[in-house]
Amino acid sequence: MSFKLPELPYAYEALAPYMSKETLEYHHDKHHKAYVDNGNKLLEGSGLEGKSLEDVVKGSFGKNAGLFNNAGQHYNHLHFWKWMKPNGGGDKLPGKLQAAIDKDLGGLAKAKEDFAQAGVTQFGSGWAWIAVKDGKLAIMKTPNGENPLVHGATPILGCDVWEHSYYIDYRNRRPDYLKAFLDHLVNWEYVEEMFAAATK
Ligand SMILES: [Fe+2]
Repeated sequence: MSFKLPELPYAYEALAPYMSKETLEYHHDKHHKAYVDNGNKLLEGSGLEGKSLEDVVKGSFGKNAGLFNNAGQHYNHLHFWKWMKPNGGGDKLPGKLQAAIDKDLGGLAKAKEDFAQAGVTQFGSGWAWIAVKDGKLAIMKTPNGENPLVHGATPILGCDVWEHSYYIDYRNRRPDYLKAFLDHLVNWEYVEEMFAAATK
């Protein structure tokens, strides 16, 4: 298996004004592509060739930092593009996901507040997450290319808080970027899909 850069599931200008064409061109065509290209080079001879992406991420964590950083970021970005859609956000969630958010995270408003807070307080580069851990939803944050997979959990929503994801559109205003992501971009149907897969 080798890593492959996916097409964006929407046009480059489709998420404006919340995420611009210029941001997506740099973020997808340059940053994500570099993770794919470097990941493929580092996968060769690593002993993890032929494994699934998830197994490469888990198998390289703490053992092969170069491969882990690139494979982790490839996994994170593959899903990140699908965690957004034009006219996303809102507060109409698929029923089972809504019920789990109510039960485990204190309702959608509280979950969004805690998710944004995780993103704002992640020092330096990293990600904010909703993940399934031990059968329950949890808000998490991780540095750099790490994700919940290496902490015994399965991510169902993630927001990239590296500066490359927001600096063109929001400069240093990370809280405004996180609010726009939650209010206007999140593709809750894809979150539900990952939630269903993680809990079946
Ligand atoms: Fe990124």
